[in-house]
Amino acid sequence: MDLKIAPSILSADFGRLNEDIATIDDYIDYIHIDVMDGHFVPNLTFGAPIVKYVKSGNPLDVHLMVENPENYIDDFADIGTSVLTFHYEAVEDCLWLISKIKEKGMKVGISIKPGTKVEVLEEFLSKLDWVLVMSVEPGFGGQSFMPVALEKIKWLREKALDINIAVDGGVNAETGALCRQAGANVLVAGSYIFKAEDRIAAIKSLRG
Ligand code: DX5
Ligand code: ZN
Repeated sequence: MDLKIAPSILSADFGRLNEDIATIDDYIDYIHIDVMDGHFVPNLTFGAPIVKYVKSGNPLDVHLMVENPENYIDDFADIGTSVLTFHYEAVEDCLWLISKIKEKGMKVGISIKPGTKVEVLEEFLSKLDWVLVMSVEPGFGGQSFMPVALEKIKWLREKALDINIAVDGGVNAETGALCRQAGANVLVAGSYIFKAEDRIAAIKSLRG
């Protein structure tokens, strides 16, 4: 599958978010939006009323790190979200939530934390557009890549040839190459891109 780069705006300057996005918008494939509620993860970011003002020519890839993700489906659909990803650990009935998100016309993804076994996703794979493998504990940017993600990516790619496999956390040129080799085709990167002196060179280095 084509490689896609999804910069996480968590590491951008929120005071000049759209200017920051404009510096890279022609070189990327998605905008990755980290929504945190202070419950599912010990950090708080923003919801749809703010994300609505994000300006980009690229589709929005929304990563919900929240409890009760079902409460936010309508709001993110209304602002034009392309891919809506929820956490396996936050939900009791994943099948129900998958169909709710699809009914709203969005692509659907499930994410798993580093401590969650990838096999739990097997029963959902045929219904998913996207799997997001966390390679750090969700909640903060700037952490180091956890290699446990690589085995999960390999397992997923063997099971699901036609699904988008995204990896999120500590992705840079080196860890990104390992993820690509393992079978990931979406690289999410926050600090590696937004804190780089040359953001475009950083994006190109992720493409290999
Ligand atoms: C972490 C978020 C990530 C984060 C990645 O909970 O899901 O998207 O922004 O940041 P880096 O690339 O700096 O590890
Ligand atoms: Zn994320």
